[in-house]
Order: sequence, then C-alpha cells, then structure tokens
Amino acid sequence: MHTPANPVCLVLCEHEADQRREDKYSVLLPTYNERENLPLIVWLLVKYFNESGYNYEIIIIDDGSPDGTLEVAEQLQKIYGSNKILLRPREKKLGLGTAYIHGMKHASGNFVIIMDADLSHHPKFIPEFIEKQKEGDYDLVSGTRYRGNGGVYGWDLRRKLISRGANFLSQVLLRPGASDLTGSFRLYKKHVLESLVERCVSKGYVFQMEMIVRARQLNYTVGEVPISFVDRVYGESKLGGNEIVSFVKGLLTLFATT
Ligand code: GDD
Ligand code: MN
Repeated sequence: MHTPANPVCLVLCEHEADQRREDKYSVLLPTYNERENLPLIVWLLVKYFNESGYNYEIIIIDDGSPDGTLEVAEQLQKIYGSNKILLRPREKKLGLGTAYIHGMKHASGNFVIIMDADLSHHPKFIPEFIEKQKEGDYDLVSGTRYRGNGGVYGWDLRRKLISRGANFLSQVLLRPGASDLTGSFRLYKKHVLESLVERCVSKGYVFQMEMIVRARQLNYTVGEVPISFVDRVYGESKLGGNEIVSFVKGLLTLFATT
C-alpha cells in the first residue's frame, strides 16, 4: 500500500498528511507555585512536539502564584514566542477545574491536552496519546496509572491509598468503564471537551472524575495510554484535606444525580 506508485496510497497518504498539518494541539498547563518546574516542562513540551512534528500551543493558566510563576512564564514566552506560549492568568487561586475551563476558552487547537505542570506527567507520552487518538478516532484519550505499564512513583502509602480509594469508590459507584478516573493527563477533541465542560458541576480535583463519567453517559469513546506518574521534586502538592472532603462530596453528588 505504501508504495508511491500506488495511486490509492498517494491520495490517502496525501489526505493523512493534510490532516496532520491541520491538527493543532493546545496544551493547558494550570500552575500554582510552579516556578521551578515550569521552564523544564515547557522545554520538554517544545522538544517532543518539535520531534514529532505536530502543531501546538501551550496555554499557561497561573492563579496569582505568590512565588512568581507568572514572571517565569513571561520569560518563557519571550524565549519561545507568543504564538507558542500563551498566558491566561487569573487574579487568585480559583481551583484546578475552573483553571482548565478558563484555559480551554482560549485554545485555538482542534485538540486539547490537559496535564499537570509539576513534571508528574511527562511530555514524552504525548505522541503516544496522539497516535492512540488517531488509531480509533477516540473522543478522548486518558492516561492511566492503573493499566499495562502504568504506575505511580514516589508517593507515600497515604497518598497511594487516597488515589486507589478515590478510584475504587468512583468505580463502584459510577461504573464509568475507564481504569483511571482521577488522573488528569488527557487529550480531548476540543468540541468534546466543550460539551463535557458544559455539563460538569465540580470545581476542584473531582472535576477529572466527573469529566470521564459524563463522557461515558454521552457515549463518547475513550482510549487509554498507560503512563507513569512521578511525584514532583520541586514544590508541594495542593491536594489537602479540604480537597479530599470536596472530592467525596462531589462523588456522592454525582452518584445521586447520574
Ligand atoms: N491555576 C491553578 N489553580 N492551578 C492549580 C490549582 C489552582 O487552584 N491547584 C493546583 N494547580 C496546578 C498545580 O500547579 C499543578 O500543575 C497541577 O495543578 C496539579 O496540582 P498538584 O497539587 O501537583 O496535584 P497532585 O500532584 O497532588 O495531584 C495529581 O494527582 C491527582 C490524583 O491522581 C493531579 O494530577 C490531580 O489532577 C489528580 O486528581
Ligand atoms: Mn503534582
């Protein structure tokens, strides 16, 4: 099939190449006190996108970080260009879920990638997400720590139990048919993300889970890519007791309403 002399291939391959040129991936990076991590994550993103040849933009949503993350982001914008790095800051810490929604509104790509900015999600997986998406024309592709070669590194027992517990509870209550419900390394078709966001009520960490549960309800197709999640080296997690309480509340609300 892949011989240049074959006219069918010529047409198909041409079409594929066109599609590849047209596709654009908007990466949303929410940040709160990520001054040390931001330069490295951006550098890695640029590296992997350049190597794989996909078109992209990086949208940084900083929530008034007191550590000066926004100043670092401004420097990065000077280095990589304002067409590649977009800054969409907010005044104060308004939560992770709404940070994504805010960022999404400014995304110009037909695909949106959501990930953490603290290097727990390695950009090297992005080409795999993209290939997986194309393979089945999936509406969303979710990174999973709980399948295949996926895993979690550097978490203490408490944190592992919280994550496993949250996933287990959600699996039992909501049966969404995906192996990692609370993870937040995902690729969406832009219009799918928009339609999901319209239906989502949660604001904080529970947002990820709600998104995949709603995706299931709407019969969107979900592809999965095993990822390794490595705990951050710099800075600290913003997932505190409050977030856990609101996660459980959100989960029960979903259970009662879906
Ligand atoms: N703009 C903004 N506003 N960014 C935020 C906020 C906020 O209120 N809260 C957190 N972030 C950013 C962080 O700066 C980081 O880039 C990302 O969101 C994830 O936050 P962490 O504090 O590092 O989360 P985590 O490592 O404890 O939790 C991870 O695992 C959870 C469970 O699997 C994340 O991937 C969560 O999304 C996930 O639910
Ligand atoms: Mn983290």
